[in-house]
This record gives sequence, structure tokens and C-alpha cells, in this order.
Amino acid sequence: MFREVVAGCCLLFGLGVTGAIAEQADVVPAAPPLSLGTAWYPEQWPESRWDVDLLLMEQAHVTFVRLTEFAWSAMEPGDGNFQLDWVEHAIRAAERHHIQVVLGTPGAAPPAWLTQKYPETLRTMEDGRKDEHGNREQFNFTNPKYRELVARITGKMAERFGHDKNVIGWQIDNELAAESYDADTKRQWQDWLEAKYGTLDNLNARWTTAYWSETYTDWRQIPIETRYSNPGLLLNWKQFVTDTYRSYSKLHVDTIRKYAEPRQRITTNMMGWFDGYDHYKLAQDLDFASWDDYVGTGHLDPIRNGMAHDLTRGFLRKNFWVMETQPGFVNWSADNNALDKGEVRAMAWHDVGHGAEAVSYWQWRSALNGQEEYHGVLVGADGTPVPLYPEVAQLGAEFAKAGPALAGTTVESDVAVLQDYDSRWAINWQRHNKAFDPVNALVSYYGPLRKLVRSVDVVADTVPLSRYKLVVAPALNVLTPAAVKNLEVYVRGGGHLVLGQRSGMKDQDNALEVERQPGPLVDLLGGRVEQFYALDKDVPIEGTWGSGTDTIWAEQMSIKAPDAEVLMRYGKSNGWLDGQPAAVTRKVGKGRITYIGAMLDEPTMRAAAKWMLETSGVNAVWPGVPEGVDVSVRSGVGKKVWILINLSGDAKTVSLPAAMESVLDGSRSASVTLPRYGVAVLR
Ligand code: GLA
Repeated sequence: MFREVVAGCCLLFGLGVTGAIAEQADVVPAAPPLSLGTAWYPEQWPESRWDVDLLLMEQAHVTFVRLTEFAWSAMEPGDGNFQLDWVEHAIRAAERHHIQVVLGTPGAAPPAWLTQKYPETLRTMEDGRKDEHGNREQFNFTNPKYRELVARITGKMAERFGHDKNVIGWQIDNELAAESYDADTKRQWQDWLEAKYGTLDNLNARWTTAYWSETYTDWRQIPIETRYSNPGLLLNWKQFVTDTYRSYSKLHVDTIRKYAEPRQRITTNMMGWFDGYDHYKLAQDLDFASWDDYVGTGHLDPIRNGMAHDLTRGFLRKNFWVMETQPGFVNWSADNNALDKGEVRAMAWHDVGHGAEAVSYWQWRSALNGQEEYHGVLVGADGTPVPLYPEVAQLGAEFAKAGPALAGTTVESDVAVLQDYDSRWAINWQRHNKAFDPVNALVSYYGPLRKLVRSVDVVADTVPLSRYKLVVAPALNVLTPAAVKNLEVYVRGGGHLVLGQRSGMKDQDNALEVERQPGPLVDLLGGRVEQFYALDKDVPIEGTWGSGTDTIWAEQMSIKAPDAEVLMRYGKSNGWLDGQPAAVTRKVGKGRITYIGAMLDEPTMRAAAKWMLETSGVNAVWPGVPEGVDVSVRSGVGKKVWILINLSGDAKTVSLPAAMESVLDGSRSASVTLPRYGVAVLR
């Protein structure tokens, strides 16, 4: 009944605007180009309070709320007893305040009745204990009963709200993360292996199970291991987990799609550098990627955090949402310091600079009880705004103003960094030097490149690469046949591939390549790694990129092809490395392949980055910008918008390449002075 009224409103509005029934669909408002959101939990408050909260949101220019992702017990208080009227009321209340809605499917927090009635849906933890009700994510994502129940509530929600004009999208579950180690999951894992490998002879050969008498004669003998085990088994377990998360997520997508209009876009909130599963695979079923961006302790690190944005943008190679971010501080870190005054706004613009279309604060208001009483909010438990509220309101006004300028723009780059989950897992299981963190290795290349070119893509090693002039692959430890082919095609097509240390060591089963590093790319490089060393002290290094030091890791290289060149050599160290090549390069037709076997210190890496760009024909962008000012650029057809953020301790003046217009205040000038945390949006 209520839905008919809504449809009626829509119809009238449609006729009013266009006079044509055929164009009704157009009247459904899309999300603005820059959306400001917050996580709102109306189920925690009396309905009489909702309007006050929504008015405060409206006054802060909040454009959407995310609802219901932890509200299963309110939407289904007993088995099959669906209570969705309150959700409808909340959606309508938000609509009265011009606030759109993203609905969360509630799988991350199953109700107590469900756990009690269907205890088989609980996950088993690694130590063999069953999880319990009382926290969240206590469910087993492989359990058929759980899937049935979560699909049932999702279906009910989608049936009711899939055509709701104020619902713009769906978030599946919440931060998929918790694996289960129960007997049924184990059986599914063994069946998954059988489907993948076909025969035990094949699996035994590819995992080299002759080692330590691991040979399997029955699929049921294969254990679940997550840390110290056969590397082939470890890698496959992660891939199995990826497939099961994906099918769990896909179940939601299919259920929602059965009812929902295509304009309601579907995502799940991911977690940046979290590596619990292969995000490239899971993202394939989503309409857009989103992530939860928390600093935790400390302050915004524009490089590491910026790279996590670019990583998320790379999942589907398009703009993304920041579905959650901290309103000042969190409660779960060791030291939950607040971001400085001005830093929350600066951080949001930093998100936008990297391709975010929405920034959403977790959460709106402190719940009176529950595990997160100390977490940052925009409105306190007393119902009045906290000191941060005006800063977020200012941001909301700026998003509204800058939205049209940024509409249709994204981040474009000539440079890509390759990121690969198999490789990160493989290195983390066998770091060899505990200081070798694969994410740090990625960031060590990304940082200096990003500072020089102001935009870098982070993508998988199997995506088409010909649009890039430079592709950098730090610690690309595992190479699948598809990746090898892709990289060869790229170099032969004229691109410059830079492989970083530990690349090309393992095959798709996490087995050692039969050739030294970079394995199947040795011939292309015309050189190879003779030996790797975990370093106990820094090693001097010298060559094309000046004199510096190598830390943590060193690979002793050699060249074979007459046209391969040595770029850097180690100085005196452990005897083995003395005078040996540390980095080599070779021109291949119009393309080039380079291998860097050392972990370069920052100044040397900066010089290396400059060299990489120069040899690849990529120009530095806005080279004169003072240190500490972060520059991003978003481009679209006929437009380019620059975002400058001063993250240094004091005011900075930036001379612009030409007079530019400030999108935020309309002024025009050839230089801008930014206070600490100051932001300029220019075109
Ligand atoms: C996560 C969750 C949220 C909330 C925040 C707190 O990102 O998705 O529900 O717990 O952390 O920082």
C-alpha cells in the first residue's frame, strides 16, 4: 500500500517535469557526483527521534545514510517473522530530508534466535572452538543453512525496497573476513581441490608432496592449514577462501538482482590492504568497489593511504566509495588519538583526489551501549553535535559545490604498480627476513613515483597494460602463466616493465620456478638472480642512481645477453655481494625490462623513480610543488580538476603552472597559499 503511494508520487513528479510517462524512470534521483554519508542505526533509537537526527544530517549536507547492516534481529525478530515496516519508515524519513539510502544486508550479525535454533551456522575457529553469539561475524560463510537464511532475509529486503526510489544501492554483509575450520568446510575444501586438480597424482606432483612424506592417497586426508605448511596447500586454501567468499557475496548479488532495479548499485565494504582473500576476484560481481578507510593510531599517511585508495580503484578500474571512515578517532586501536582539527576534511579531499565518489562517516551517533562506546561520532550519545560536526558540515557544503566540476572525472595515469595477492601471501608465509613486508615493498616504489607523476594506478598483473608507459611490479613473487604472457606482451609491445626484488620466483602452485628469478622472464631480461640474501646489515650500493644503501634484502644478479646493462652494483658487504650487479636493464625492441634486486633507501629510490619515468617517456607533473603538499588530478572529457592538500606542519604557497579557478570559492589566481590542512580544488 505504502509503495503504491510512493509510485504515485513518482508518477506525478515525472509528469510535472517531463510530461511523458515514458520518462518516469529519469526522475529517480541518482547519487550526487560527490556524496557525503554516515552510518545510521535507527533501530537503536525511538522513531520520534529520527527526524532530529536527519535534520542535523541535512544541515551538514549529508546526502546518504547506510542502514540495516547490523539490524537482522530488528528485521527478523523470530524465524520467518519479517518486520520491514520500520525500515520503510526510516527510508521515508530520510527522504523527507533529501537523504538517500544504501541498504546493508545483515549477514555480519546474525540474531541470537538463529544461532540457538541453527547452531550449525556458527563458525569454528582455528583452535577448534565454536564461536558464540555476542560479537559479530560468528557465522560460517560456507554453511548451507546460513546461506539459505541470509538469502531469505536479503530477498525479503530486495523485494520490498528493490524499486524504492530513495534506495540508491546495497552493501553486502560487512567487511568479509572470518574463516571457518569446521568439518564440513574441510570437506568442501577437499572437494574444491579435487575439482581443481582432477587427480591426486596431479596434486601430489604440483605440491611436491614427496617432500616430508606428504603424499596423499585420498582427498579426505588433506588438512586445512593456514601458516606453516606446504606452500601449495597454503596458497590453495586462500584461493578456496576467495572462491567461497565470492560465492557467498554472489548469492547476495543474485538475490538482490532478482528484485532490484539496475540503478541500485551493489558493493561490499572492503578493507584496503587486508589480504584475507583475492579482492580482484570477489569484485567481479559488484557494480562498484568500496572500502573502510581508518587511520587508527597516528595521522593520515598520504602515500600508504593513497595507495590503498588506488588499490581499491584498481579492483574494477573505476571510481570507488569510502564506505566508512573515522569521524576523528576510532576505539579499536592501541592509541585512539583524534585526527587534528582540519585533518578530517583534508583526508576526505585526499579520498576524492584518488577517485572516491563518496565519503561516509562511521558512525553518526554513539549507541548507548555496545562494544564501540568510545568510537568517534558526529553526534554524541546526548544527541547533540560534537566539535567535529561543523568541519564535516563544511565538507558537505564543499562536496555539493564541487560535485558538478568533478562529475565524470576519474584518475588517469601512465604509470601502474602491479599488486598480487598470491605474491603477498607467498612472501608473508616465508618472509625469510621478518622485516620484508610485501606491502612496504609496494609502497616503496609507489611513493616516489606518485610524488613525481601525481597519479598512479594499482592493478592486477593480468589486466591489459598497453595504456601504461611504465609498469612496476615490486615483489611479484608468484607468476601465473597468464601473468607471464601479459607481461611479455606488454614489453614486446613497447612498454617498460620494472620488476622489483623477489619477483618471478614461484609458479601458480607456489612452487619454485625451475629457473632462477625472474623465472619465465629470464630470457626477456637477459639476466637473472644468482642468489638472494636476507641482510643483517645495510649494504652500500652505487651506480646510475647514485650512491646509497640497500637494506633487508639483496639479490646478487648477473647478465647474460650482450645488450643487457648493469645499472647498480653492491659495494663491500658479505663477500658474496661485493661488486656484484644489483639492478639490470635491457631494451627489448621499443620496450624495456628492468630488474631491481635491492631494497633501495629512500633517496636512491627517488633517483630510481626519476630514471624509470625518464626512460619510459613519462613527464613529472607540477615538479615545483613544495614538500608536504599533496597533489592529485582527476580528468574527464574536456576537464581536469586538481586537488591540493597541505599536509605539512605550516602554511605553503604553491605557484600554479597557469592562472586557475578555485572550484570552492570562484577566485582565480596563479598561486595559492594553503594553511596547514588547507585544501584547494582548482580547474
Ligand atoms: C569497522 C566496521 C564498523 C565499525 C568500525 C569502527 O570498519 O565495519 O561496523 O565497527 O569498524 O571503526
